[in-house]
Parts: sequence; structure tokens; C-alpha cells
Amino acid sequence: MGMFDRSGTGSIKWARAGEGRIALGLADMDLPGPPEIGAALAERARHPAYGYTVCDPGGRELVARWYRERHRVVVDPDWVLLLPFSARTALRLLLAAVGPRGPVLSPTPDWGGFRQLCEVAGLAYRAVELARDGGGYRLPVAEFAGAGLVLLSNPHNPSGRVWQAAELRALAEQAAGRGGLLVSDEVHSDLVHPDLGLRHPVAVAVAGEAARHTVTLNSVGKTFNTSGIPSCFALVPDPGLRERLLTLMGGYGLWEGGLVPQLVQRAALEHGGPWLDALLQRLAGHRELALAALGPAVASRPEASYLLWLDATALGLPAEGARELLLTERDVELSAGTDFGPAWGSHLRLNYALPVERLRAALTRLTPC
Ligand SMILES: Cc1ncc(COP(=O)(O)O)c(C=O)c1O
Repeated sequence: MGMFDRSGTGSIKWARAGEGRIALGLADMDLPGPPEIGAALAERARHPAYGYTVCDPGGRELVARWYRERHRVVVDPDWVLLLPFSARTALRLLLAAVGPRGPVLSPTPDWGGFRQLCEVAGLAYRAVELARDGGGYRLPVAEFAGAGLVLLSNPHNPSGRVWQAAELRALAEQAAGRGGLLVSDEVHSDLVHPDLGLRHPVAVAVAGEAARHTVTLNSVGKTFNTSGIPSCFALVPDPGLRERLLTLMGGYGLWEGGLVPQLVQRAALEHGGPWLDALLQRLAGHRELALAALGPAVASRPEASYLLWLDATALGLPAEGARELLLTERDVELSAGTDFGPAWGSHLRLNYALPVERLRAALTRLTPC
């Protein structure tokens, strides 16, 4: 069998990279997803009626079971909202449902969507620079004390850092003290690398008494490589907020469920565990390969997902324009540091979820001497 190839599938990552280049940018995987998802889609497609479809009646329990079995965490099925749209859309709706509660604080670097969504929502956004602890980032908890709303990726995009339970709990407690909210975007949380012995802190579970002041967002998109079929789920323990979200969704003609999103989510959560275990082993191998080649340039040691946050200058690249230089002179495409905050022009994000032969070739292009 040839190397896994996405030609002809309309992959945005490869379209951005362009002909002849290796795509290491956008956060999806050049690796095949679980066969059970394709089988479920093919099976359902055989019936030619695709009309309005009820929300999977066992869908909430399925999410609770996933948390019980994979994270050893109790999730009340009543908290679960099964959303047939992207995590980005869910966050936008959440910001609208919550309304202004004072400044929105978010770490920097972090996923650029937070800043963008606040701008679109007309909310005051403030970036808090992450602190360092040995080889990795740390959340400077006290600096979030004045926030009405905290938005963060957990685990962290772009670095793959797994935040600590104590950090999350403290953020939730601070939010509770001010009547605020901690929004923990956990779309990378099922990709914590098992060989490192870390446990992902699910915000709602580690928050204790402050749980009502948290929203935990997750999806099967990153984990099972299904981001082209938008879906996500939110754990919202505050019944008032759940109600406001559902009412707002209704206003846009959106409701829980969705034929294809639910099909994909069920196939992934019900059958995808063994596939995910194998994927995580593979990603840990790729991580070590990338670290061996790029080690001194790695800004925070990766612990989850398939992302590496690099200081371009440590690779001998210029502090500005490193992405363009790599694209035109070395035929590799990485994400620009500025996608994760305007101050990060000297950084790059590399996605190492691709066939190992192609990853090796890309690492050679990144370290030519
Ligand atoms: C932390 C984080 N949240 C949200 C998203 C986007 O997810 P979706 O495609 O479901 O909107 C990403 C994608 O990279 C992400 O890293």
C-alpha cells in the first residue's frame, strides 16, 4: 500500500501548502481515521431518506461513559449538550449566551480563535502571557483573577502542554468568586500521550464546588480526524446557562443532534477506543522523532495531541517571515506563530500527525545542515 495520501479530498491543509510541499500546518491528521466511522456512514447512506432526525437518545449517556472509561471521571448526562456544529461555533454561541461579564482573559500563546471570537462578539479581550516551569508552560493563575470569563485550550494548542488539575481548579475557584466562568476548550484532551504518565484534568471534574462556573467543550473532531464533519459536545453543569444556550440555538434554527454529526460521534465514542490507543502510541513515536531533530527549538515540551511549538530563531530562521521562507525555500508548510497571538512572529507550529516517512523528510528539510 502506498503512503497515505489525501489528494482529491479537498484537504485545506494541503491546499494551503501548495504543490510539492509537505503540509505540517492546520490541525488535522494525515492518518486514516477509525474504520468504524466510515462503516457507519456507508451503512446509513444506504437508506435514501436523509430527513430531519431526532437527537441520539443514548448520546448523552455515551459521552458520560466515554468520560467514565477514558478519563475515570463522573459526568452527569444532564450536563451534556450534543451539538451539530464546530467547537468554534459553540464558543461563539456560548459568548452570546453568557453576555458581557467583564474582561475576557486568555493565555498567550493560545488558539487564535479565542481572540477572534471575542472581537466578533464585541467583548474586551486581554491576553495573559504564559509562565515557564522547567521545560514547559505553566498557567499564571493569579493573573487571571480579574477575569469575568477565562478562555483556554486544555491541553494547550499550540504547545501540547497538559495543564495541571490544581491550575484548573484555581481558575475555576477564581471564576466562581466573581460570578464568572471558566471555559475550558478540551478538543485535544483525548490525545494526551499515555507514555508520559499524565492525566488530563477535565475542567468540570477538577473544579469541585466551582463546577457550575465551568464549561467543558470537547469533540471527536481532533481525536478521530473528523473535523470536516463539524460536531462537538459541551458539559454545562449550570442548568440556567444550558437553557439559555438552547434558546439561543433555537433562534438560529439549530438544535441538538444532527444526522451525520451524531452518526460520527456515536461510531467514534462507541468503537474508537482501540484505534485511539494505537494512534497515541504512533503519535508518541512521532513526537520523539521530532524532538530528536528539533529539540533545542521546542518552546514547551509536548505532552498531548500532535503539535510542536517552535522558536524559529533557534532553527536559524529569521524572527519575522519564517513561515514564508520555509514555504518558498524548503518546501514545508507550518503554521505562523502569529496565528497564536500577535507577539509570536518568531514562532512556528508544526503538526506531526503524518506518515512517518513524510515526517522524516520534513524534518530533514527543516534542519538541512
Ligand atoms: C483549542 C481549539 N479549539 C477549537 C478548534 C476548532 O475546532 P472546530 O473545528 O470544531 O471549530 C481548534 C482547532 O484547531 C482548537 O485547537
